[in-house]
Formats: sequence, C-alpha cells, structure tokens
Amino acid sequence: MLILAIETSCDETAAAVVEAYFNGQMHLYTIRSNIIASQHEIHNKYGGIVPELACRRHIENINPVIMEALNKAGTTLNDINLFAVTMGPGLVVALLVGLSMCKAIAYACQKPLAGVNHLEGHILSIFLESPELSFPFISLLVSGGHTELYLVEDFGKYKVLGKSRDDAAGEAFDKAAKMLNLGYPGGPAIEKTAAPGNPFAINFPRAYLDKDSLDFSFSGVKTALKNYLNGFTPPYSTSAVFLPNVTASFQQAIVEVLVNKTFSAVKMYNVKSIVMAGGVASNRILREGMLMRGREEGVQVFYPNPILCTDNAAMIACAGYHRFRVDEGKCFDFYSLDAEADMKL
Ligand code: KG4
Ligand code: ZN
Repeated sequence: MLILAIETSCDETAAAVVEAYFNGQMHLYTIRSNIIASQHEIHNKYGGIVPELACRRHIENINPVIMEALNKAGTTLNDINLFAVTMGPGLVVALLVGLSMCKAIAYACQKPLAGVNHLEGHILSIFLESPELSFPFISLLVSGGHTELYLVEDFGKYKVLGKSRDDAAGEAFDKAAKMLNLGYPGGPAIEKTAAPGNPFAINFPRAYLDKDSLDFSFSGVKTALKNYLNGFTPPYSTSAVFLPNVTASFQQAIVEVLVNKTFSAVKMYNVKSIVMAGGVASNRILREGMLMRGREEGVQVFYPNPILCTDNAAMIACAGYHRFRVDEGKCFDFYSLDAEADMKL
C-alpha cells in the first residue's frame, strides 16, 4: 500500500510517501520520501511559535512540499492508495491547512483518507526503523507540547500512565533558551551550549510529585533557572563556563526525571522495552541516560533517528496505515474530518 501523508500541526510543513505492507509476520515500511519545510528561522526571533505566521507559511509551503514528496518518491497521485493527515492535537490554524489540502486531494482521487492523531504518529514512528519491535512497551513521548508516558499494548491500544501537569519538557527547554537568549527551538540550542559544561555545577530541583506518581512537572525547574539568573546580569556569555554550566545543569535536571519516571513505569507494568519519541527524544544526554539505565536493568531502549523524532509526515503515514487497517470504513468519510486542537489519544 502506498501512502501519502501530510503533517502541519505546528511549525513544520511536511509530506511523505511511505510504502507499507504485511509480510505474514510483521508490518514493513519503506520511506520513499520524507520532506520537511521547517519554519524555525521565522519563529526564532520571537522565542516561540507565532500561530498566524505559522499558518501563512504552511499555505505557501504545502503545495511545493507535496510535489517534492511525490517527485522524490518517483510517483504520482494516481498511484497513492491511502491519504493520511494529522487532525490534532496542534495549532488549529496550522492543522487546517494540511487537513483541507489532504481532504481535497483524497476527494478528487476518490481514495480513502485516514485522520491521524499526531501523538500516535510519534509513538509509532519507531516502527519505521524497527518493524520487529514487539508489544507491550512503555513509550515516553517528549515533545514541545507533550510529556507523557504510555503503556502501548498494540497498534491503537494506548494507556496514559502519566503526563506533565504544567510545562512539557520541550517547552521547558524552549523557555529556558529564551531566557538565555539562545533562540528557538531551545532544546538543540541548550544541548549544544551544554556540551562542555558541568551537569552538576548547579543543583536545579527535580520534581517527582506524589509517591508512585508517573506525572511530570517542569515549571519548577524553569522558575528555579529564572531565579538563579536574577542574580546575574546579562549578557551571560562574559564567563566562558557560565552558559555551559547553567545549561548542562538544567538539562541534567530534566533528563534525570524523565529517565527515573520511565523506569518506574517499566517496573510498575513489568515490560521489557522502552520507546522514546518526540523532539526531545533526539537529545543525546537523554538517549545515553536511558541506554545506560537500560543496560543496568536489562531493559531494551529504542529511539528513532532524530529526523523521525521531530515532526515529520512519515510517522503520520505509519499511523494512518494502521488506522486504515483497523477501521477502513471510517476512512471514506471525507466531509466529517475536522481539526481537533486538543485531540486525545
Ligand atoms: O516533536 P516536535 O518536533 O514538535 C512537537 O510536537 O512539539 O518537538 C519539538 C520540541 C521543541 O520543544 C524542541 O526544543 C525539542 O523538541 N527538541 C529538543 C531537542 N531537539 C528538539 N529538546 C532537547 N534536546 C534536543 N536535541
Ligand atoms: Zn510533534
């Protein structure tokens, strides 16, 4: 089955062509193209996403991005068997661009259209590279809008075990980078600045909440950073170790909580694998921390390539394929599909 997927939930306009089939034992995928037009340079000077600007840029980008995805895959709309599009959660004005476009194309081609939950796309992105992965597993979804732990029992079977009660981990990175004038997106900027720093230079708080809680809270560490910075005068780059030490310590505080809570979930639900997903899952310190702990505890840790961690349409194709398998009937209802800004999984 050849799938064309579109993703416009935030600040990436993305389209991908993915081939998926069942070989009798497992589902296999070939990413024929995975095109991402990022808007980072537009939002950089605001230190966060400006919805109106994101929407306008999606409108400019959507056609060329789809054409490039088809060309790179060496295919045309005539060969596509299934269309898949992100319907939420995300910025409604951004979602509507991809959704309207995909509905129109699917209707014109009279081919099925799967509406996809962006979070399901992130969780299933791992299968594009590790199709042999077996259920159940714990998924740590860490992005700019979400920090959640799921028990994943099968395709389409997800149980939320915990979530952030305030800021998402990526949001905390983005806000910290804004305070430090490091630009947007904050995660990669903080990771880079932190590389030569001492992660234990400053003891930022780690919030574990109630005993046995798998919820997260990152607003405290953000406020602690703000209070810490109040004692100094910008620009902070006057001392060579200041920014590396502050960012490394901040990153360490977030990573430690993410690793410890994920392993608490592993213990509580007695599973043998962890899958990381979402933009923050491309963080090297988080990956290494998770792998090291996995080796100690005999738990396998999986994470996708960075290009499949941050927003992309290949993951939407994968999730769309499984939506279609499970509920083919619903995928012909072109008119009822609508954007859902806070769509639940
Ligand atoms: O999954 P994603 O592309 O978009 C959302 O669905 O939110 O994630 C973007 C988030 C941003 O907050 C960004 O700062 C964070 O992921 N991020 C990182 C890294 N790369 C992206 N955070 C920490 N370290 C990174 N290397
Ligand atoms: Zn995302």
